[in-house]
Amino acid sequence: MNTMTFTNNMTGASYEYNILAPTRGPMVVDIRTFFADSGMFTYDPGFTATAACESTITFIDGKKGELRYRGLAIEDLASKHSYLEVCYLLLNGSLPTKEELTNFDLEIRHRAYLHRGLHKLFDAFPDNAHPMATLSAGVTALASFYDEHINLDNEDAYLEMAHRIVSKIPTVAAFAYRQSLGIPFIEPDIDLGFTENFLTMMRAYPGGKMRINANGKELIKEVEIRALDTIFTLHADHEQNASTTVVRGVASTGAHPYVAISSGIAALWGRAHGGANESVIAQLEYIGSVDNVEDFIKRAKDPEDDFRLMGFGHRVYKNFDPRAKILKGLQDELKSELNLDTELMKIANKIEEIALNDEYFIKRKLYPNIDFYSGVILTALKIPKEMFTPIFVIGRTIGWITQWIEFKKDKASKIARPRQLYTGE
Ligand code: CMC
Repeated sequence: MNTMTFTNNMTGASYEYNILAPTRGPMVVDIRTFFADSGMFTYDPGFTATAACESTITFIDGKKGELRYRGLAIEDLASKHSYLEVCYLLLNGSLPTKEELTNFDLEIRHRAYLHRGLHKLFDAFPDNAHPMATLSAGVTALASFYDEHINLDNEDAYLEMAHRIVSKIPTVAAFAYRQSLGIPFIEPDIDLGFTENFLTMMRAYPGGKMRINANGKELIKEVEIRALDTIFTLHADHEQNASTTVVRGVASTGAHPYVAISSGIAALWGRAHGGANESVIAQLEYIGSVDNVEDFIKRAKDPEDDFRLMGFGHRVYKNFDPRAKILKGLQDELKSELNLDTELMKIANKIEEIALNDEYFIKRKLYPNIDFYSGVILTALKIPKEMFTPIFVIGRTIGWITQWIEFKKDKASKIARPRQLYTGE
């Protein structure tokens, strides 16, 4: 075993620690006994240099712009596989056979309904309630409908718990959205696949599927289903990001898995994380015209101004975000089919063009991230911006629940309880 020695230059005392070798990525110094050995804490706000767990789910190489789920490249998963296949992969470790996929798909369709009692919860929310608030509350409420102890030795039991939440999240999100408009809910349709079902629950008129309108036109185009399915895949997991860290933190206290997910939803809402997709479009609308872009770029660079370009920068990706690259490709592909050539898109293109060639952004390695492109595509899918982050939630739920299971099965897991550098009275 390779080791690393830490020397305290005040006392001359040395402490030796094992270096753990990952299958990919940086080596990790195992400092678990550091406090017991030295009486000192380590200081790392934002966990920029801390591996908080061991994981086999997702791998990111931030320098190369590489993202893999269970070892498979995101580019292949996004272009050759459906979101449901990706869910199965994350949860089970390998892609499904045809039969496994059929059974999984069927189960996800069957579990999409919400208990009637839960419908009443939505009525308590005001008109115009942000769907993220309703969604988080709805998922917490689900914990009370399925308040069973999850036995991690019983694979069927924990998979059922995971399938249920993946299946119900789109229904809760669509109901939250319709509640915010004050219009009746559309129940899930067992004849529809995961993504089409969600779009239908969002868009359909009361009472029916409405896949064909009165003029015989498709209400939901195949290309829209494919685009949204890809967006779900790109959001499915992202190793130890802020909301997943919250999910694991809540898991560490022994709380119900759906409460952990509800906490992840709350963490995702902020605009430094999943809320950025809504903020990107709000910011493009605020900028208003291509002529104003230069002024806003100046503001983003001004250290005295807290204005930041939404959809730019990432803690881990320092060359490009592979998810953003895939979405940019999808955006170009969809341009003609979905009427993407709007004023908003012109502003977005101008921002991208200037920022990618500007010393400030180059020096700090700030590139467009997934949220920069997803907003423009979701707008073209006629999805209102308040639903962008709920869509991130739908995609990410499989990642959260898979990470929850991994955390629970890991014998090294402990309650999340960091210490502090106290500087008060
Ligand atoms: N616009 C202008 N300057 C920026 C931006 C930005 N979007 N992002 C970072 N910077 C600057 C920052 O001011 C700092 O400059 P300096 O070194 O002079 O003080 C430097 O770049 C490093 O920034 P940081 O805040 O220390 O970096 P971080 O790793 O802590 O934060 C981030 C990462 C994503 C929170 C941040 O880049 C940001 O706020 N971006 C905008 C919000 C956004 O798009 N979030 C979505 C992230 S991707 C989706 C997801 O996975 O959640």
